[in-house]
Amino acid sequence: MKLVRLIANLGYGSRKQVAAMFREGRITRRDGEVLYADDRIEPAEVCVDGEPLDPPPGLTLMLHKPVGYTCSTRDAGRLVYDLLPERYRRRDPVLSTVGRLDRDTSGLLLMTDDGGLLHRIISPRSQVAKCYEAELAADLSGEEAALFASGTLMLDSETMPLAPAALEVIAPRRARLTVTEGRYHQARRMFAATGNHVLALHRVSVGGLTLGDLASGQWHALDAGDITQILDGGRTPDA
Ligand code: URA
Repeated sequence: MKLVRLIANLGYGSRKQVAAMFREGRITRRDGEVLYADDRIEPAEVCVDGEPLDPPPGLTLMLHKPVGYTCSTRDAGRLVYDLLPERYRRRDPVLSTVGRLDRDTSGLLLMTDDGGLLHRIISPRSQVAKCYEAELAADLSGEEAALFASGTLMLDSETMPLAPAALEVIAPRRARLTVTEGRYHQARRMFAATGNHVLALHRVSVGGLTLGDLASGQWHALDAGDITQILDGGRTPDA
């Protein structure tokens, strides 16, 4: 693909604007040599205004989502895209969230422009485990783990029971829930079905990928090893 098109697709501007950036000498090789609009060159070799070009399509990233941000491109209020470089919301192919976290949920959020990968991660058939830490309004009764593991729990207004999920109790009002589905408000509704209420919800891992020491609001691009961790690490909950 010609550089002008690649760079425009990465959200730096319209093709006309990017063509002007070439004319102004703002697009160079790493060694400073000026590049031209129809050059074909490895994206990793390209700089814009002296900064390395953004990752080309095939980008998957992890974000430590803070509470108060919405997984949407358009809602009113703060959006997860506000935590990324501004041009990332104009990328083509589009950078989408892999499933959603509620506005009031924090933790590990994946974003990708790879539709096939997105579907592999969210499909219940892939059995990619999503692990949440929940802080609860009332003490756990001790019966939740068996109910969640049973594969018979039916959430309000649904027609299919939930797949088995694992619950690890950490403290009387704190637990770690691991699920392989991504139904609407699933964790909150599961605890609500036991008569409890989730005060705070935080996703700690997706498959074998954990937040590590990534600070709230920070993000980084994933590599092939991270993707393997997501898909092949921590597949089925210990239900
Ligand atoms: N379950 C929920 O209830 N909310 C989330 O954000 C994720 C899982």
